[in-house]
Amino acid sequence: METIASQDRFQQIIQVAQGFYARKDRAHDLDHALRVREWGKKLAKAEGADSTVIELAAILHDIGRSGAVEKTHAESSAGLAVNILQKNGYSEDVVTQVKEAIISHSREAGHEPKTLEAKILYDADKLDFVGAIGIGRLFTLAGVEGWTLSGENSCEDFYQKKIRTYRDHLFTQTAKGYFDPLFLYMEGFWQELHAEGLRLSDSGQANFSE
Ligand SMILES: [Fe+2]
Ligand SMILES: [Fe+2]
Repeated sequence: METIASQDRFQQIIQVAQGFYARKDRAHDLDHALRVREWGKKLAKAEGADSTVIELAAILHDIGRSGAVEKTHAESSAGLAVNILQKNGYSEDVVTQVKEAIISHSREAGHEPKTLEAKILYDADKLDFVGAIGIGRLFTLAGVEGWTLSGENSCEDFYQKKIRTYRDHLFTQTAKGYFDPLFLYMEGFWQELHAEGLRLSDSGQANFSE
């Protein structure tokens, strides 16, 4: 059972995290982190994991995305998170578990999630890139990266190469259950996008650069 004191401590961590997330990339902002926290809570409950570790890791998992001091944003976020949690009086055990989860939430750092809490953070992060929210985030990211709708270096390219592969890498059955309907919604979105392009074009060819 969470106490009021533990909720206050979460609020303090969120306040600190907010400073790191106040940047141009709105696909990886505090709202993303807070949605990942909510997914993490759901998955922790169903899978019998430590919710405190997962929630702290979720709130802090992308804080190192800008001005990364380490090789990868996961490593940068993990380093920053350790300092923040130590300053806020969290036990060494919690700090170590949060660090482990954050460092392995992205495959770019080459760390495989080993603990249940790390696996859940990984899954929760991916669940925020599917469904209508996933589409919104994809186009938000496109604004930062300068992607077109379709073709090379596009939203659809990112969707095909990254988001479509996420299901194969999810760790928990609970996450897979949540993922599937959201993924189907996204698949339908791309079908609709191409159908609209075809209807618009006299030649019957979609007006997308591909
Ligand atoms: Fe990340
Ligand atoms: Fe993330």
